[in-house]
Amino acid sequence: MTKFFISCALPYANGPCHLGHLRSTYVPADIFTRFNRTIGNDVLLVCATDEHGTPIAVKADDEGKKPIEIATRYHRKIVKDLEICDISIDNFSRTTNKTHYKIAQNFFLNLYNKDLIYEKEIKQLYCDHCNKFLPDRYVEGICRFCNSPGARGDQCEVCGRHLGVEDLLNPKCLTCGKTPVIKKSTHYFFRLSKFQKEVEEFVYNNPNLGDNVRNYLKNWLKDGLKDWILSRDMDWGIPIPLKGAEGKIIYVWVEALIGYISSATEWSNKTGESWRGYWDDTVLHFIGKDIIYHHGIFWPAMLDGHGCKNPDNIIAGEYLSLEGRKMSTSQGWVIWVKDFVENFDSDLLRYYLTITAPLNKDMDFSWDDFGRRVNDELADVLGNFLHRTFTFTNKFFDGKVPELFDLSDEDRKFKFLIEKLADEVAYSISNFKFRDGLVNILKIAKEGNRYFDYQKPWQSVKNDYEKASNCLNLSNQLSKVLAITLKPYLPNKSADILDILNLEDTNDWNDWKVPLKTGHKIKNPKPLFKKIDEEEINKEKDKLFKLEHEVGREHDPISKKENNKIDNEKLDEKEDNMMDIINIDDFTKLDLRIGEVLEAEKIKGSDKLLKLKVDIKDKTLQIVAGLGLKYSPEQLINEKVTVLVNLKPAKLFGVESEGMILATADSAEIISPSGAEIGEKIM
Ligand code: 2FM
Ligand code: ZN
Repeated sequence: MTKFFISCALPYANGPCHLGHLRSTYVPADIFTRFNRTIGNDVLLVCATDEHGTPIAVKADDEGKKPIEIATRYHRKIVKDLEICDISIDNFSRTTNKTHYKIAQNFFLNLYNKDLIYEKEIKQLYCDHCNKFLPDRYVEGICRFCNSPGARGDQCEVCGRHLGVEDLLNPKCLTCGKTPVIKKSTHYFFRLSKFQKEVEEFVYNNPNLGDNVRNYLKNWLKDGLKDWILSRDMDWGIPIPLKGAEGKIIYVWVEALIGYISSATEWSNKTGESWRGYWDDTVLHFIGKDIIYHHGIFWPAMLDGHGCKNPDNIIAGEYLSLEGRKMSTSQGWVIWVKDFVENFDSDLLRYYLTITAPLNKDMDFSWDDFGRRVNDELADVLGNFLHRTFTFTNKFFDGKVPELFDLSDEDRKFKFLIEKLADEVAYSISNFKFRDGLVNILKIAKEGNRYFDYQKPWQSVKNDYEKASNCLNLSNQLSKVLAITLKPYLPNKSADILDILNLEDTNDWNDWKVPLKTGHKIKNPKPLFKKIDEEEINKEKDKLFKLEHEVGREHDPISKKENNKIDNEKLDEKEDNMMDIINIDDFTKLDLRIGEVLEAEKIKGSDKLLKLKVDIKDKTLQIVAGLGLKYSPEQLINEKVTVLVNLKPAKLFGVESEGMILATADSAEIISPSGAEIGEKIM
């Protein structure tokens, strides 16, 4: 038996859960956890809300509330979101809990006493008007290197450079808008540079790490680790427990990581069981890819320094985009879990988020595709197989699992597939290949339908009873195996299937090996997977596009930088941070040409999107452009436009788009060089 200490990344308590959270972290962690519990491993799954940090403090300022009120509000929502999706967490804590304060402070002190933390005076921006230092996202200015406005805190999001206080030109306090001054302040630094070797060891010699994780980390290690500032001058956070450190708190990232241990400690306090046995055995962190750095570099070094075993693996889910575009909570381009499960079963969501792409690849959520998968895969394949098996058993065999006679070749082949399934799924889940396991389940269900069609029990029941009997016996056996293998993925549907099979909701994976006995009575089936009609999907699409209008500003595929807002959306943050200055080769990859609009029409259900036919001389492209609020279709006909012609085709609102029309980001004004020739290339 293995004991697993499993954590899910701590969600910030400044918003509810959206589909991105579920996809990258919570659903995979839960599948792994549920599966391991059914094979007899002992899993402790912990999480908490991450409640400190500037985004929450700033949001509180904006709303005239205390940060703790904001955190409490979202903590509650997040708990509900995770519950409704059946994420089977043993302890869900808060980083504002007392236990956590104590543990984080002790951790800090331990490193400090070992001389792994030192003090150093540095220059910081200070707002005389607000009487406070301006850490991180409290300040904004112009980047000295690339001249971009809207550079925040200590990093320019456009050129990606680290900004010292003197590199932020014309800085403004984001609270009051006044110009801050430079002041000296003493801060605490972790000797991260000392841990280069240990971290390298962790990254290079850990065979468990996935390629996506290792490759990221290798990149960071290349330049050599620099000491890491662990403190901030602000009051929302955990005070640094040292004399002379008044007004300083532990940087939110340091204590968030320690939050895993605090949550486990809290669990121990509640249950009287020790969490240490779990940590000493196998530690797994499920996270999103944007925080690989923190978990793969800071955390192992902190743990080494503290004298604690390193994690055994970090499983990082890649990004989820929405209808082909990067998610953004501030722009309303997001689907909240709560809204989703109002209309659709959470198991459908778990299914879609798992089957659509492997965890280590980016995935796109599209409403059309969601509808298609539910209808074509869950309803037509899986649901259909189960339904016909159960109805047939009830109709022709009095609801009892019929006898198994001598097997035909077809029966034998089918039986062989049934007997392989559980091991295949177990292998996939154990290796974090969650999609593969689910694909296998679907494949066998498909085979089940094929077998059923081939055996034609509705005919053979009249003239070849044994054939029909074998077919229904084996189909019921498969139904049971399906229920058990689906359990980690779709816990509710699994329970429903077991219920129809008149079996207890088992928690033992090996139960798949116990065949249903001849004569076992099953219940009358109820439909397990209802089809979703197009109208429902269109409603959801409308909601999304409307929400974007209300919350967001205008933004096209040609997206723009948010100016003044504190954008606490992690996805955005990291992607922007990774942005680089491009060189000319990057630019020349863009095939930009002059085109002429031949046809234009509105896209049903969207005010904003227009479907255009654009002549670029050697061919005509169909392009979906977000110009509808600015131009009527007629206004665009015969207009010259600038077109990005080598963009990967994508579907917007179900309409294929083969390029992009360049336009200004705010006013959606097209770039129309009237003197240029159609088809002319732009350099
Ligand atoms: O990126 C985030 O959403 C952070 N709140 C994750 C913290 S995970 C860990 F450190 F606990
Ligand atoms: Zn100020």
